[in-house]
Amino acid sequence: MAHAKTATSKTPTDLTITPRDRRFGRGQVQGRWWLGGDPYASNFHNALSITFPRGEAFFVDSVKSFRDGAPPKLAGEIRAFIMQEVMHSREHVSFNRRVADAGYKVDHLEQVVADSLALTKGRPEILNLAVTLALEHYTAMMAHEMLRDPRYFEGADAETLEMWRWHAIEEIEHKGVAFDTWMHATKDWSRAKRWRVKSIMMLIVTKNFWAKRWDATLDLLAQDGITGAKAKLGLARYLFGSPGIVRKLVPAWAAFFMPGFHPWNHDDRALIGKYDSDYVDARMPAAA
Ligand SMILES: [Fe+2]
Ligand SMILES: [Fe+2]
Repeated sequence: MAHAKTATSKTPTDLTITPRDRRFGRGQVQGRWWLGGDPYASNFHNALSITFPRGEAFFVDSVKSFRDGAPPKLAGEIRAFIMQEVMHSREHVSFNRRVADAGYKVDHLEQVVADSLALTKGRPEILNLAVTLALEHYTAMMAHEMLRDPRYFEGADAETLEMWRWHAIEEIEHKGVAFDTWMHATKDWSRAKRWRVKSIMMLIVTKNFWAKRWDATLDLLAQDGITGAKAKLGLARYLFGSPGIVRKLVPAWAAFFMPGFHPWNHDDRALIGKYDSDYVDARMPAAA
């Protein structure tokens, strides 16, 4: 079996990953159904946000473990990736506080995230990197979809919309970093082994990601008094029907399993450019 000793990255050579140090919504009072008055949309995003502070710290740790010996370009991208993710965590901590201030109990949902991450301790770091690779593909796919179609955030207040949009831009910008780190870390593996491990991890991550976000969203809906078949049907309609983010992600998700997959096979930097001028003042010097 041929080993790919020199994996070449498909990350655009002229891509710069720019951390933008912005703070959003401090001191702002957030309504319970902040997303257009829709309990399903609002609580799905609340459930997502609850995973971010711990989840993104996990991404940072797993990428960090493999930065030694990385080529200089990748090493710079890893530094910028870490700066971006640390600021995302900070802003989602603040957002989650506003969710709690609106009256939701979120501690037990944060504990679910902590418990599932605790299971990753002590196992081979390369498996954690594979989980990060899969979840970073998720964040990039969702970011693409949310920037592509403004209807996802219709009815959100300006500051909250900006926060999610800022996060989405940076997720697209650094979408190749975990993948390139993975290619670097597994450069002595056969292509077949690399494909097998990343594909199995993607399937496991997919099952867990949706099962847990589904449960967390139903939990938050129950706190609004929306329960039983009504809650499940409403959430299913939101996720699979209209706007139907799960349905819309399927082609990009399937691409992950194709030979030659790389996140930058699809160059969607135009979506970043569409909004980036809003953050000019927040741009930090490139970490590379
Ligand atoms: Fe992030
Ligand atoms: Fe990310």
